[in-house]
Amino acid sequence: MLSAAKTEFLTIFRERHSVRHFDASHKLREQEIKELLEIAGSAPSSWNLQHWKFVAITDAAAKAKLLPIAHGQKQVVGASVTVAILGDLQANRNTEAVYRPAIQTGLEDAYAGYSSYPAMVAQIEDSYANASPTYRRDEAIRNASLAAMQLMLAAKAKGLDSSPMVGFDADAFVKAFNVPPRYVPVLLVAIGKAAIPARPSSRFPVEQTIIWNGFEPDADHM
Ligand SMILES: Cc1cc2nc3c(=O)[nH]c(=O)nc-3n(C[C@H](O)[C@H](O)[C@H](O)COP(=O)(O)O)c2cc1C
Repeated sequence: MLSAAKTEFLTIFRERHSVRHFDASHKLREQEIKELLEIAGSAPSSWNLQHWKFVAITDAAAKAKLLPIAHGQKQVVGASVTVAILGDLQANRNTEAVYRPAIQTGLEDAYAGYSSYPAMVAQIEDSYANASPTYRRDEAIRNASLAAMQLMLAAKAKGLDSSPMVGFDADAFVKAFNVPPRYVPVLLVAIGKAAIPARPSSRFPVEQTIIWNGFEPDADHM
């Protein structure tokens, strides 16, 4: 038997859907937005490097600036806040700041499974210097996407709704919001009170999404 809290948690997953019409009169306090972003930032990340920054767009002028960049998607104006989730292309630069407390307290076992801090740093730097050309971007996008998902679930848990959006001009966003080259825009997430419920969406039956223990050789999988 699942406890009531666990059942509620699963309900949050099932009931999260993309709302496109928000109640524009609904405001979120700065503290409420911070709390959502703190939960978003508790997402896991490679080496705990926390490859995300959140541009929180709350004021009317900034929302108006965002509207054409988001191809006129009105969620960005109606939502209480639209968070632009940025991925960090140079997250290796976070290593010292992330691990300084562990180094200072001499915590054993704190270095993501490595034998020592230098061993971990060497691995991180090697990955950022020598891995495939897409590595930095892949890392930025995959890790920031986990934070984005947590943000949407946190919003739902607090009785809010959200709308993820990749329909925006990332280059224009970078220019308009002065994003430094270190960061890549990953996703916009509009958050607020729904004015019109999300339209229904379906999913493939789970059986269609699972491949047990690997594909058959030469599988031409649909
Ligand atoms: C990466 C990503 C980008 C999306 N971009 C947009 C978008 O630009 N505009 C929009 O209206 N919905 C966007 N969506 C929402 C999807 O259409 C939606 O998640 C999907 O249809 C499933 O519906 P649901 O979220 O309501 O369950 C996006 C979703 C994701 C995950």
